Amino acid sequence: DGFAATKLFNQGYSYTYDDVIFLPHYIDFATDDVSLATRLTRRLPLLSPVVSSPMDTVTEAGMAAAMASLGGLGIIHSNLPPQVQASMVRSVKSRRVPLLSSPTFKSSEHRIDSLDDFDSSPYVLVTQSGSPSSKLIGYVSRSEWLQLDGDKKDARIDTYMTSSNELVVPWNYSLAQMDNYFKEKKDMDLAALVKEEEVVDLVTREDVDRLKEYPRLGVGTVGPDGGWRVGAAMGTRLEDKERLELLVKAGVDVVVLDSSQGNSIYQIEMIKYVKGMYKELDVVGGNVVTAAQAENLIRAGVDGLRVGMGSGSICTTQEVCAVGRGQATAVYKVASIASQHGVPIIADGGISFSGHIVKALVLGASTVMMGGFLAGSTEAPGAYEYQNGCRIKKYRGMGSLEAMTKGSDARYLGDTAKLKIAQGVVGAVADKGSVLNFVPYTLQAVKQGFQDLGASSLQSAHDLLRSGILRVEVRSGAAQVEGGVHGLVSYVKKSF
Ligand code: XMP
Repeated sequence: DGFAATKLFNQGYSYTYDDVIFLPHYIDFATDDVSLATRLTRRLPLLSPVVSSPMDTVTEAGMAAAMASLGGLGIIHSNLPPQVQASMVRSVKSRRVPLLSSPTFKSSEHRIDSLDDFDSSPYVLVTQSGSPSSKLIGYVSRSEWLQLDGDKKDARIDTYMTSSNELVVPWNYSLAQMDNYFKEKKDMDLAALVKEEEVVDLVTREDVDRLKEYPRLGVGTVGPDGGWRVGAAMGTRLEDKERLELLVKAGVDVVVLDSSQGNSIYQIEMIKYVKGMYKELDVVGGNVVTAAQAENLIRAGVDGLRVGMGSGSICTTQEVCAVGRGQATAVYKVASIASQHGVPIIADGGISFSGHIVKALVLGASTVMMGGFLAGSTEAPGAYEYQNGCRIKKYRGMGSLEAMTKGSDARYLGDTAKLKIAQGVVGAVADKGSVLNFVPYTLQAVKQGFQDLGASSLQSAHDLLRSGILRVEVRSGAAQVEGGVHGLVSYVKKSF
């Protein structure tokens, strides 16, 4: 019944995730017995197969910290000056709670200028010199400052701040340890995370109480030093070597060479450079969609491959350049070759539902990389806006003209071209709430898909597919309609 994957994917068609469907197999274990533990690259293990894309509307420090806390990983985009990208890497690695509040620092002689000083945190921290790397002596809360009389508001901070030298906790306290801390210190509502005499951030009792509500914030992706792990994107130009040096100094765990067509002399030379200079650092190459492209990069020494060309929700590469591949075929074909060399692949782009994640993983990917699926969340960069009564956040392709003028043109090899050609669009996605909420929910749905297929792990799914035990079919247009919600009129619930 059905087809073996090898037969289905060798008939000259380019299939997307929606084109294909798996036939169910046999269940002899519970959903919670499914393990989605995996590897991003040869040497980087993850508890969850989810990675956030290096896009300037998806992954900065806040998203990367959240993804790590979920057992996945964030790749910080490179449409930023190298120093700023490196400081984001440092910031993610300096904590074990999925929060970034970045409070304003002042010295006791300073004044609070305006409410803007409380923009990123409800507290201003007071240190001896006014910089994060000197001794903490007190704090001011927004509500206290607002209650001060007019003149007092303009006075030196030490005339009204709350003095305290008891706020300090170790930077690598986990959420559980922070919770215990606040349970013991009943009269304290905030704690400062301190690493090597530098205040790296602030955690409030309210934050911890809110985070405790999220399901499955477990161990997360923690590095050997006890902080989150994080990745960063970079290009293949000469100046990217300087960027790389800063990223390595900041402790980056993996670098991703960001290109829409990775099989190039530029990338091969950069892979060799990275592997020669920084032996301990894993490097992801790509993007690729064919076995031949993958083989070239594997020969150059990559530790992971990013797969996908033109399948992303904001991509126009296939239309503009007539190059690319349906994502299901691309993942299957590249995985077939990469698995022989022990190189994990990242299925990048085209994920709209949990079912797409199941398909990517079963077809051979070790992780999925997502842009649009995570954009619009609380943790995505940018502010919410309102459009037609809907709360939205901007989401744009890195090949859109808007993003390319900020520097991402190198990804599309447009850096030397005088005329830039857009390969992506600018759009918006609806507010989705926190990734801490909807990603665990999505992963539970993925586990159910694995259970239906009789696969209790990624390895067993890959084995079932390659051995031909797991059967696949192509869905006709009508089967795709049937497989979605259909035949309903909208139902507005009335309250009686
Ligand atoms: P999703 O579907 O998750 O896709 O939103 C995210 C992936 O799309 C790629 N990307 C682009 N591809 N033009 C393209 O052809 C673009 O402007 C663009 N921006 C991002 C990228 O691989 C990302 O991870």
